[in-house]
Amino acid sequence: MQKNHVWGAGTAVCLSLLSLTVLAAPRAGDPEQGKAAAALCATCHQADGSGLNNPAGESWPRLAGLEADYLASQLHAYKTGARRNPSMEAFAQMLDDEQILHVSAWFASLPATDGQSAEDQGHSAVLLKRGEQLATEGDWENYVVACSSCHGPDNLGAGTVFPAIAGQHFGYIRDQLLAWQKGTRENDPQRLMATIAERMSSNDINAVAAWLSTQPVAVEQ
Ligand code: HEC
Ligand code: HEC
Repeated sequence: MQKNHVWGAGTAVCLSLLSLTVLAAPRAGDPEQGKAAAALCATCHQADGSGLNNPAGESWPRLAGLEADYLASQLHAYKTGARRNPSMEAFAQMLDDEQILHVSAWFASLPATDGQSAEDQGHSAVLLKRGEQLATEGDWENYVVACSSCHGPDNLGAGTVFPAIAGQHFGYIRDQLLAWQKGTRENDPQRLMATIAERMSSNDINAVAAWLSTQPVAVEQ
């Protein structure tokens, strides 16, 4: 009897330690399990996750190679309405927490795809120069911090909080900066992005989006 009691207490301690470990370690998604759900997304984000720059309408972001935790946090934001977009809302609602974990791991596992060249997009040299300045040095007179100070050297992303924006599509980057200005994207930590976007003119938004979209998605070897 006595022995049984001790064993029971020991098990209880073990079980509670186990659940603590489960809570502490964020679960990693399984790309293979996410592949099936990703088929729903291909119409817009494409099967290789490259998305599309659409000069005439809404652009679809590249998801390939972005951090899994970042992608998952955005899908949750669409579900709660902290980030609002009619094209995405319905798709985010279809996914439960488990599917969000796996589909994010799937897109994160795909190799990052390039944006578009400056020639193909027809951006002027003056616009691109201004964009480069904003992205790499910032504009101190207008309190705009260089994008690379948070988004990492070459704007290739830093950790799970600061997404890669180099090589992302022009139309998508522009629309996000406008969304922060309008307040339809409110899920950024500490309003870090909203504060910056609010200080940018529409010419500066176009400039930085244009330059970033032409940048390589990986460090050149
Ligand atoms: C009808 C087109 C369409 C479909 C289908 C679609 N998306 Fe999207 N997705 C978009 C658009 C447009 C945006 C950008 C919306 C915005 O401005 O917030 C977006 C944004 C996202 C983002 C945010 C990316 C970022 O860098 O912040 C994620 C993550 C995402 N989609 C995942 C998915 C997943 C997963 C599916 C499939 C289950 C899916 N999408 C299906 C159009 C679509
Ligand atoms: C103070 C830090 C900081 C600076 C400086 C900064 N960003 Fe961000 N940016 C963030 C954070 C944090 C996020 C992720 C927001 C979220 O989780 O929704 C983000 C997200 C973005 C996104 C959305 C990417 C996606 O895939 O959806 C774009 C576009 C962006 N930033 C553009 C810029 C540009 C352009 C600049 C420079 C003019 C810039 N950022 C400067 C912190 C910063």
